[in-house]
Amino acid sequence: MEIINRRQRIFSISRKFRRENKKVGFVPTMGALHAGHLKLVEESRQRADVTIVSIFVNPAQFNDKKDLEKYPRDLTQDAAMLAELGVDYIYAPDVEEVYPPGFSTYVDVEGLTDVMEGASRPGHFRGVATVVTILFNTIRPDIAFFGQKDAQQVAVIEQLTRDLGFEMEIAVLPTVREASGLAMSSRNERLSDEDREKAAVLIKALLEAKHAYKEGERNTAVLTQMVKKVVETEPAAELDYVSMVDRNTLQPIDRIGDSDVLLAAGMVVGGIRLIDNVILERKQ
Ligand code: PAF
Repeated sequence: MEIINRRQRIFSISRKFRRENKKVGFVPTMGALHAGHLKLVEESRQRADVTIVSIFVNPAQFNDKKDLEKYPRDLTQDAAMLAELGVDYIYAPDVEEVYPPGFSTYVDVEGLTDVMEGASRPGHFRGVATVVTILFNTIRPDIAFFGQKDAQQVAVIEQLTRDLGFEMEIAVLPTVREASGLAMSSRNERLSDEDREKAAVLIKALLEAKHAYKEGERNTAVLTQMVKKVVETEPAAELDYVSMVDRNTLQPIDRIGDSDVLLAAGMVVGGIRLIDNVILERKQ
């Protein structure tokens, strides 16, 4: 496994493999790797001939400077985990390599980015869309792997991939969870043991609504209220939003049951922002 810092070098390596008709798999990350990332890497190892993982804490997607400073970073440990899984290359550029002096081009995915997480974190998805576009353009993978936990991010990236004409597949893998049910996230490291347990109330609430949906409940207000009520049982949890939207367009749904619905929520526990979601599938 090789760790590469230069854009030009990873670009040439990836181009060489593509010319040899080898399938390039790409897992973009911000490091602080957990079991969720490792699942994406394992899938890439199975489906592609070469696996490239990027590790880059992207300043453009943090609207809170303190959050950026506190973001966990440990390249040595991340690299050891990736070597064990047989990753071929890590692309770990510094900020100037991605955003050289004078950088002034940003990618705005309209319509999908100002709701849900985007409403609470202005500019976040502009930063995500911009860095993902830069990384896709640098690596030009055949398949890029993302986790369903970040459902809104997935919708944004699928949209930009279509709109900007990237010839590649976006593979989305199910959320990996801790024993309590809490979705794996690099942010979980910043929770105390106690808050980590308490944070599982979010998936508990979402699953309760999903269960009610399966039992025939179709009233969106009832289902979202159910999520709120369960989260409220945990005094340490502060709910930010609960949204029921079309899974792909993220637009509010007229009638539940017509298309796959994303039931997503964001909350804060112990000062840490956490998100999770479930899909209410059509015809359930
Ligand atoms: O999901 C993440 O870790 C980041 O948002 C991504 C996709 C690597 C872009 O910085």
